[in-house]
Amino acid sequence: MRPKTKSCSFRSLLKSLPVLLVLTLLVSCGGGERPDHSLRIGVALYTQDDTFISALAQHLEQLAQDEESRIGQKITLLISDSRSNQTTQMDQVDRFLSRGCDVLCVNIVDRTAAAVLVDKAEAENVPLIFFNRQPVDEDIQRWSQTYYVGASAQESGALQGQLVLDAWNEDHSRWDRNGDGVLQYVMLEGEPGHQDSLLRTEYAIAAITDGGVEVERLARDTANWNRAQASARIARWLEEFGDQIEVILSNNDDMALGAIDALSETDRPLEDWPLIAGVDATAPAMEAVAAGQLYGTVHNDDRGQAQAMLNLALALYAGEDPADAVNLVDGHYVWLPYCQVTRENLDAFRRS
Ligand code: BGC
Ligand code: CA
Repeated sequence: MRPKTKSCSFRSLLKSLPVLLVLTLLVSCGGGERPDHSLRIGVALYTQDDTFISALAQHLEQLAQDEESRIGQKITLLISDSRSNQTTQMDQVDRFLSRGCDVLCVNIVDRTAAAVLVDKAEAENVPLIFFNRQPVDEDIQRWSQTYYVGASAQESGALQGQLVLDAWNEDHSRWDRNGDGVLQYVMLEGEPGHQDSLLRTEYAIAAITDGGVEVERLARDTANWNRAQASARIARWLEEFGDQIEVILSNNDDMALGAIDALSETDRPLEDWPLIAGVDATAPAMEAVAAGQLYGTVHNDDRGQAQAMLNLALALYAGEDPADAVNLVDGHYVWLPYCQVTRENLDAFRRS
């Protein structure tokens, strides 16, 4: 990939001067300020304040550094924070393109805006990798150089539901506080319209009821993936429903930690808390599992997703077949598996 450096005499340098001049001109006129031959990846994050997303971005930076020393190819990451604003993100992507980025990675703010981004990337012939926030398939299929790296929302919901079902069956007398055989729960949902909010909510409940347990929903609301918002919701529901709440299902760990914050404010002993389940296995959530506050979570492989994005970007830059670099499904998708995390496998999980 790296241009081969030949040792050259002064005479051969003179001979190649016109060529060098043309090259220099081409580079400086090409819109991008490209003094070197580095691979430039523009990465637009929907917001850097999101625990999962900022961890993924950190992995990406670390992996790019490691890869750089391994292959001797300079890799520059330009990372932008869209602050949950799609218009801002559009401007950031325009800037990435005008700065000569070779590949774009977009964590789209508003999933319905994907077609515009695909068209922008196609017009400049710059491959586009969406990640974590999944556009509809029609938008992904719009151009052959558009990809999605993520994890199946449906799978995470099903695994969370199974985790709760197993706990319920194992220690029924502990969790079924009113002894009616029905699982009374509240649901903390992520941003409305996000594939992970919709499908985790649906599949978590489906796994419990498919397992033969009847459920009763006491309340549901969005807390937009956010810890403080979740804490406020749970505080209100604790006032309203008291110890009728047997299970708190949360679409992600940050909101589950918000529930823990709200319960910690009460004088309830830990053994009387409802069962709380999250998704992500972020570092603070794993601490909460270790402390027995969070019953369990489902690992959302941030590092794996970052690695897949990088491998894909490198292959696309080198003009190689991306299917040789990542496990490509239907020519456009890379899916990372989820797995359950509870106190039982926490240590093994942390070591891996
Ligand atoms: C994660 C959430 C995160 C969201 C952002 C989800 O996959 O589970 O923690 O807030 O992505 O898009
Ligand atoms: Ca009950």
